[in-house]
Amino acid sequence: MAEPLSSQGSIATPHHVAIVMDGNGRWAKKRFLPRVAGHKQGVEALRRTVKACLDAGIQVLSVFAFSSENWARPADEVSGLMELMALALSREVSGLHQQGVQIHFPGDKSRLSPRVTEGLEKAQALTAHNTRLVLNVCFNYGGRWDIVQAAAQVQAQGLPITEQNLAQHLALAHVPDPDLFIRTGGEMRVSNFLIWQMAYAEFYFSQALWPDFGPSELESALAAYQRRERRFGLTSEQINAATAPTPEENR
Ligand code: IPE
Ligand code: IPE
Ligand code: MG
Repeated sequence: MAEPLSSQGSIATPHHVAIVMDGNGRWAKKRFLPRVAGHKQGVEALRRTVKACLDAGIQVLSVFAFSSENWARPADEVSGLMELMALALSREVSGLHQQGVQIHFPGDKSRLSPRVTEGLEKAQALTAHNTRLVLNVCFNYGGRWDIVQAAAQVQAQGLPITEQNLAQHLALAHVPDPDLFIRTGGEMRVSNFLIWQMAYAEFYFSQALWPDFGPSELESALAAYQRRERRFGLTSEQINAATAPTPEENR
C-alpha cells in the first residue's frame, strides 16, 4: 500500500503551495443561490485546506481571496466579499491561532475599510509568533501591483533595480517562492496572482469548484507534484547527478 503523503520525505512535499480559489460563483449558480453563498462556502473549504496542509507538513500556504481586478464586479458582490472578510476575521482567527498558523494579508490595504484593515492588523499581530504554517491570504492583491510597489520602494531607497532588491520588497518577501500552484474551477490561467514568484512553480489545475475542494483534492495535487521533475533550467542528467547518492552514501 502506498505510504500516506504526510509520512513521506520532505523533498516530495512542497514547502509552499499557492492556490487560486476559483469557482465559488459557479458553485452557487448551480444551486440557484446568490454568488455570495458560494464565497461563504469557500471559507469552509479554506478552513479544511489549512487543516490538510498542516497534516501534510506544508510550511506555507498562499491563497488568492480577492484580486485588484475583482473591484470591477457588481457592487453587491464586492460589498458581500468585504463583509465576509470582516466576518471570517472575527470567526476564524482564534481557531487558526490555536493551530499555530501565522497569518499575513499581502495586498494593497489603501482601499480597504478601516474595519477590515483593523481586523487584518489584529490577526497578523496575534499570530506573528506562530511557526507551524504561514498562511498568506492575498486580499486586494495583484501581481502587477506587487512588482510596481516593490520597484517604488527600491527606487525610494536609492537602491539599484536588481532581482534580489525587487524580490526583497515584494509582498511575499517573508517566504520562499511557491513550489506548487493549484487553481480550482477548471480555468487554466494565472489571473494576476503571484506572477513574479511563480517563475518555477509546478502548475496543477483542478476541475473541482473551490467550495468542493478538500483533503482528497489536495492529495491528488501533491501526488501530481511528486511525479514532476523540477529542472530550474538545467538538464535532466544534471538533476539526476546532483540527487543520486554518492558511492559513499550507497555503501
Ligand atoms: C473565486 O470565485 C472567488 C473570487 C474571485 C473572490 P469566483 O467568484 O471567481 O467564481 P466563478 O469563477 O465565477 O465561478
Ligand atoms: C482570480 O479569479 C481571483 C481570485 C480567485 C480571488 P477570477 O475569477 O477573478 O479570475 P478570472 O476573471 O476568471 O481570470
Ligand atoms: Mg472566477
